Amino acid sequence: LVRQTVKTLLHEGQPGATVTVAGWVRTRRDSKQGFSFIELNDGSCMANLQLVVDAGVPGFESNVKRLTTGASLKATGELKASPGSKQRVELHVSSLEVLGDADSVKYPLQKKGHSFEFLREIAHLRPRTNTFGAIARVRNCVSFSIHRFFQERGFLYVHAPIITTSDCEGAGEMFQVTTLPLDKLAAGTATKSVNYGHDFFGKKASLTVSGQLEGEIYATAVGPVYTFGPTFRAENSNTPRHLAEFWMIEPEIPFYELADNMQLAEDFIKTIIRDALAQCAEDMAFFNERIDKTILETLNHILAHEFKRVTYTEAVEILLASGKEWEYPVSWGANLQAEHERYLTEQHFKQPIIVYDYPRTLKPFYMKCNADGKTVRAMDVLVPRVGEIIGGSQREEDLDVLLTRMQECDLNPEEYWWYVDLRRFGTVPHAGFGLGLERMILLLTGMQNIRDVIPFPRTPKNAEF
Ligand code: 4AD
Ligand code: MG
Repeated sequence: LVRQTVKTLLHEGQPGATVTVAGWVRTRRDSKQGFSFIELNDGSCMANLQLVVDAGVPGFESNVKRLTTGASLKATGELKASPGSKQRVELHVSSLEVLGDADSVKYPLQKKGHSFEFLREIAHLRPRTNTFGAIARVRNCVSFSIHRFFQERGFLYVHAPIITTSDCEGAGEMFQVTTLPLDKLAAGTATKSVNYGHDFFGKKASLTVSGQLEGEIYATAVGPVYTFGPTFRAENSNTPRHLAEFWMIEPEIPFYELADNMQLAEDFIKTIIRDALAQCAEDMAFFNERIDKTILETLNHILAHEFKRVTYTEAVEILLASGKEWEYPVSWGANLQAEHERYLTEQHFKQPIIVYDYPRTLKPFYMKCNADGKTVRAMDVLVPRVGEIIGGSQREEDLDVLLTRMQECDLNPEEYWWYVDLRRFGTVPHAGFGLGLERMILLLTGMQNIRDVIPFPRTPKNAEF
């Protein structure tokens, strides 16, 4: 008999069918009449399948009675309509094999709820909980939805490199790649002879902070493209919104201007939300019930309204007029901080907004300069509960302006000769943006901490496994 998933059985299983299931015990309870009830989870969905095992099943005393939370088993039996209202069908077991015990004294996951802080310490077991199983399924659904969104629109999926020599965002937040022997690094004996910054076989190289520049190469050759991969930031920020390693999706589109870019970003986010609501309804209901009681309402509200477009200058005026006491002062030319962004989207507009036309001095070299000589065609999408979820821009396609900007940003055009070439040979207007996958999952699930929406968080304090 082929194993069937709990999800399939609960939705489509026919009473009377003989089936085999396998998974992990969530709970076992023994009835006075000599039955055991086992709640079995196999991760295919949130719900458990109830197994009913009577004393006549071979090995009942020796096997079934020793099953505890976390143990694994395989069982065969007949599906029957369930008398309870909790589930449509249950499995009346005729044979059961224990695959692995879980010592109830040592197994850290018990029936009671555990704090997310505690679960972070046992990242190898937390996917076995309801919350982390649901997050894994939603993350999977979102990833697929992202590919579908772009594939349906004719975008090519381009694989950007992880090891690179360029610092796209110009923030100097790069992890250096080194071939230095670890023992020499540890002993400190490598420092005298080798320049740390130049050691990828003699060249300076780091882990990528963004696949954008490589995306631009392909977008100006094969049409619309997107990248979807891990990116790295060596910023030492211990916030619930930052990771040292996160996944980013970066579309790049030739012949696009800023307004087109904004529309694509809005359609993109709305499509992901719609897909998650439709395809992960059970998990989304769980988040609404257990994590944040307003999450479904928030998401439906987002779907029902146009994202508001606001210039940076307007945003600053709103913040100044708010009468609020800010931790970071507001003035034209200063960066919008998380507190400002969240005020704008959560309290002032109460919906997602796209802030655009930022001061040139705040943004990287590649953004297209506006005619006012002060601002660039940047856009940040801000959403309630999360803040910045997307950063993007129209790119500077004019060779001379780009060279001037690089000079302003202290960048050597020779190091970016290939990027400059794109403006020399058949330059075209183009634009793109980056969505942080984990921030998107925060928005969808109502989870508070970014460490809990990626399977293995990498932060200044955590890189164990
Ligand atoms: O705004 P960022 O830095 O933009 C870029 O990297 C551009 N090159 C994108 C582009 O135009 N192709 O990052 C884009 C998004 C942010 O809006 C945020 O959602 C996410 O990436 N992000 C992070 N997510 C988690 N942890 C971090 N440390 C993040 N830094 C950025
Ligand atoms: Mg940004």
